[in-house]
Amino acid sequence: MGMRRIGFVGWRGMVGSVLMERMRAEGDFDGLAPEFFTTTQVGQQGPSIGFETPTLADAFDTNRLATLDAIVTCQGGDYTKQVLPELRKLGWRGYWIDAASSKRMDDDSVIVLDPVNRAVIDAALDVGTKNLIGGNCTVSLMLMALSGLFRTGWVEWISAMTYQAASGAGASNMRELVNQMQAIGDDCRELTDDPSTSSLEIDRRVADSMADPNFPNQHFGVPLAGSLIPWIDSAMPGGETREEWKGFVETNKILGRPNDIAVDSLCVRVGAMRCHSQGFTIKLDRDIPLEEIEQKIAGANEWVRLVPNDKASTDSQLTPAAVSGTLDIPVGRLRKMRLGPEYVSAFTVGDQLLWGAAEPLRRALKIVRARE
Ligand code: HSE
Repeated sequence: MGMRRIGFVGWRGMVGSVLMERMRAEGDFDGLAPEFFTTTQVGQQGPSIGFETPTLADAFDTNRLATLDAIVTCQGGDYTKQVLPELRKLGWRGYWIDAASSKRMDDDSVIVLDPVNRAVIDAALDVGTKNLIGGNCTVSLMLMALSGLFRTGWVEWISAMTYQAASGAGASNMRELVNQMQAIGDDCRELTDDPSTSSLEIDRRVADSMADPNFPNQHFGVPLAGSLIPWIDSAMPGGETREEWKGFVETNKILGRPNDIAVDSLCVRVGAMRCHSQGFTIKLDRDIPLEEIEQKIAGANEWVRLVPNDKASTDSQLTPAAVSGTLDIPVGRLRKMRLGPEYVSAFTVGDQLLWGAAEPLRRALKIVRARE
């Protein structure tokens, strides 16, 4: 029989749309009887997936949701907090596959990133875990890049300096970034069109544009275009942000470890659209030749790719512009550091909506389908 009746909630949003696109591309709807849910548009048509599906049902109709084998949600944490406990109270034993962070750190959840932690996922499923939650995008992208190194047991601690794209803050933020670029471009047009204008004049105009009360910053609160924001999410004790705290706790949970690998981050929003980049300082517990480190990183999974540490390769392969819309996980700028022979520097870029969000969920659904 297998699992066929799968519900999708939040499929119209940004992560949900990428998930639908990937599932269509991989033929994942074959053999499924999917049902699509909505919080606002009951009775309308669902997404086009190549065959007829029932009209949209109410995402708060827990009696109906409780008849499904699995629910995949990209609807957000508030929805999860409200609906999942109600479903479990009704005795529902189906799989809950979720992009939101609200259930991530609970003991009855496993964080899914199967190219990195398939054994952890299988062990959780074996003991009856039914909540499969996607990791924080930055954490998932770091682990896709470096799991080959983590697997060796050599990593003592890691420091990540992140350069996070607007998409991580949401669809409206992405639009706002472009609006900000446009506002600056419009304000400067007459100056940039004239080759005799000095760069200092242009800079002054850019600064004026950003300081203008009409500058579009309703979502970010401040300019991101032409600037950056070294704060992501809420404050946590000890001076770190929640995004930075996730780097520590989620990394260890994904790897199935007792919080024994120290991960410290400084997370920064930059004006990239959908690719998160990260620069790492990695402290190993011994002096390993760089070549061996490279082999371990490159051999971890089929998406990670070593980028030679030269300018041409870096420019063409290790940027958000080069990686956007792909599943590639390039890792470059690898070198031993002046700090000592156990210190390694590396840089990675990854699409925040693909490996950072939709792809682990798509694959989690395949994993649970294959078990039933
Ligand atoms: N919290 C991340 C960010 C995205 O703000 O970039 C979601 O994991």
